[in-house]
Amino acid sequence: MNNIMELKNINKFYSETGNKLHILRNLNLEIKEGEFLSILGRSGSGKSTLLNIMGLLDKVDSGEIWIDKKNVSSLSEDERNKIKNNFLGFVFQFHYLLNEFTALENVMIPALLHKFNNKREIENEAKRLLEIVGLGDRLNHKPNQLSGGEKQRVAIARAMINKPAVILADEPTGNLDEETSEIIFSLFKKLNKEFNQTVIVVTHSKDLSLITDRQVYLKKGVIE
Ligand SMILES: Nc1ncnc2c1ncn2[C@@H]1O[C@H](COP(=O)(O)OP(=O)(O)OP(=O)(O)O)[C@@H](O)[C@H]1O
Ligand SMILES: [Mg+2]
Repeated sequence: MNNIMELKNINKFYSETGNKLHILRNLNLEIKEGEFLSILGRSGSGKSTLLNIMGLLDKVDSGEIWIDKKNVSSLSEDERNKIKNNFLGFVFQFHYLLNEFTALENVMIPALLHKFNNKREIENEAKRLLEIVGLGDRLNHKPNQLSGGEKQRVAIARAMINKPAVILADEPTGNLDEETSEIIFSLFKKLNKEFNQTVIVVTHSKDLSLITDRQVYLKKGVIE
């Protein structure tokens, strides 16, 4: 199977705080199309840094990132944004839903921003996704009327609306109970198997990581 993403000799430093920290060290990682991968590692090991780099939210100091056979490092800002918006979907530890909008609207927004389909089509798709994540009866709830797990599921539906080939999730269940966490991981598995979407998830839970196809450990800035 094809690699959907390749990280080659990635180095990442943080130096804004005075002392130079070497966070990712000549890191290499290949991710296959349709893979469900988990990234584990201790707090501070660089997991979020790595995910942000893979999601084009942050830049590397050296090395190459290949996404869908394109060397992203050599692309213009415009082209990077196109990949970010059309090819990648994010779920963060904290959901970042917009409080003044309903669950349905929150899911619709990325599509309204980036696609030119008519609004009715987008609404129907958003409803379908909310049904898939088990929130078909919460469409008009605002975030403050939803539980933590429900908000997280809205965020997952939102990450799906532009049909990203790759979903990146940073501790999506970090603040949820075990059972809800399992439901969310099973949901990722379902999306992964049914729609062949590549899913990359950071987690602290070894148990949850066993639901994924492959586990990689980040230690001292390299993949073990
Ligand atoms: N903007 C920044 N400026 C300086 N240092 C940073 C910055 N962001 C992260 N770091 C440092 O880089 C290291 C890796 O951070 P990162 O957030 O990637 O860790 P993590 O593995 O996601 O940890 P956790 O499991 O706690 O979320 C940390 O030691 C952190 O202090
Ligand atoms: Mg983190």
